[in-house]
Amino acid sequence: MSDALKVGIAGLGTVGASLVRIIQNRANELAVTCGRAIEITAVTARDRNRDRGIDISGIAWFDTPEKLAAEADIDVFVELMGGANGPAADSVRAALERGLHVVTANKALLAASGVELAKIAEEKGALLNFEAAVAGGIPVIKALRESLTGNTVSRVYGIMNGTCNYILTRMEKEGLSFADCLREAQRLGYAEADPAFDIEGNDTAHKLAILTTLAFGSEIAADEIYLEGITNISIEDIRAASDLGYRIKLLGVAQKTESGIEQRVHPTMVPHDTVIAQVDGVTNAVAIESDILGELLMVGPGAGGNATASAVLGDIADIAKSRPGEQRVPVLGTPAASLAPYKRARMRSHEGGYFIRLTVADRTGVFASIATRMAENAISLESIVQRATPEAGDDSPKTIILVTHATTEASIRKAVDAIKTESYLVGEPQVIRIERPKAF
Ligand SMILES: NC(=O)c1ccc[n+]([C@@H]2O[C@H](COP(=O)([O-])OP(=O)(O)OC[C@H]3O[C@@H](n4cnc5c(N)ncnc54)[C@H](OP(=O)(O)O)[C@@H]3O)[C@@H](O)[C@H]2O)c1
Repeated sequence: MSDALKVGIAGLGTVGASLVRIIQNRANELAVTCGRAIEITAVTARDRNRDRGIDISGIAWFDTPEKLAAEADIDVFVELMGGANGPAADSVRAALERGLHVVTANKALLAASGVELAKIAEEKGALLNFEAAVAGGIPVIKALRESLTGNTVSRVYGIMNGTCNYILTRMEKEGLSFADCLREAQRLGYAEADPAFDIEGNDTAHKLAILTTLAFGSEIAADEIYLEGITNISIEDIRAASDLGYRIKLLGVAQKTESGIEQRVHPTMVPHDTVIAQVDGVTNAVAIESDILGELLMVGPGAGGNATASAVLGDIADIAKSRPGEQRVPVLGTPAASLAPYKRARMRSHEGGYFIRLTVADRTGVFASIATRMAENAISLESIVQRATPEAGDDSPKTIILVTHATTEASIRKAVDAIKTESYLVGEPQVIRIERPKAF
């Protein structure tokens, strides 16, 4: 058997501690599968004295991740701290510069600096693996980076944030408000104390930016993503969507269009008889549409110590099985130097169906006025209905729900802006995009 693969781990939190436990408990099986032992020889975290429920006696402790990356006797540097900058970025760069292989679960780092890091890795002949950075345990990076080679991908989309999906699922199933569901997600440890990153869509955007690059061979463009979180989704939207045969999910969608690449993260209505609409709670799902294979949908655990550590371990095992100096797969699927410049498709040219919810004063002529505004912008309506509000009085505001056939975002914005000038409108119109999976 070859020499053991020596692994240094920076970060012993939820994922890092699970990884240490799994590698230690399955040492024999891993040695057989990989053809060599996997040995943790160095670790670091912020607090050396914290009880993490793992045995790290006999493993060299380093006071900082930068020191571990620069000095430890290791073959692989595993970064499980998080953060786009600071110690995570500095230590990953240092490890790659040293020619060490790197495994990370850090989507924020890759979204910000993935191309630069891929270039260093490729120059140094090092491997940089990051399966856990997108959709936790679901092997979507491997699918895009390796299995779909030769396919032309047209769209990749998915539910990639368990906290948002948990909140939307609870709202629908139990009729609870957004605020109540968020509190419950925090109580159960799904949402951070500061949940903004999840519920405003930034976390999904980081993951989408990585998938876009793998799918379309273009440079990572995390700042070019149209972003809308779920904080404005009300129980009324969820009920109206349900009555119309849809469910609301926070989707990240990357799509190739004639004018460039569309990257968008927003609440989305999906037909309720599709598989992705049935993905509930903290589960993630990623769909890939491509020309040779057709449609692929992967559903599974998107977070959690063990699920994420499973993906990290798969990445480490790939390194253990590779021959020295072998770079079988470019870091981002395409060699970093050959990635195309990112060409953004304008959101205004996005085409699709839309759901619009309006609260209006109960006056004659309102229906006709709304229909006219739509017609003026060449928007054809699939349905327009007034929803009863049983608890309200006869002259209280009414809710009107429109569902459009495929149209452009520009037309919708013009029509909604026109309606906003009407005196019968009460409050802000709600607009939710509709996405139709090709299969499933
Ligand atoms: N948790 C998940 O389900 C999940 C899923 C997918 C991807 N990820 C990604 O995996 C990474 C780790 O997530 P996590 O949930 O395991 O985080 P976590 O529980 O907060 O753990 C972070 C670890 O990093 C250590 N750390 C932080 N800053 C450090 C520094 N400056 N120097 C040394 N150590 C430092 C912490 O040390 P102390 O313990 O001493 O404070 C802790 O052990 C992140 O990039 C995250 O986005 C997580």
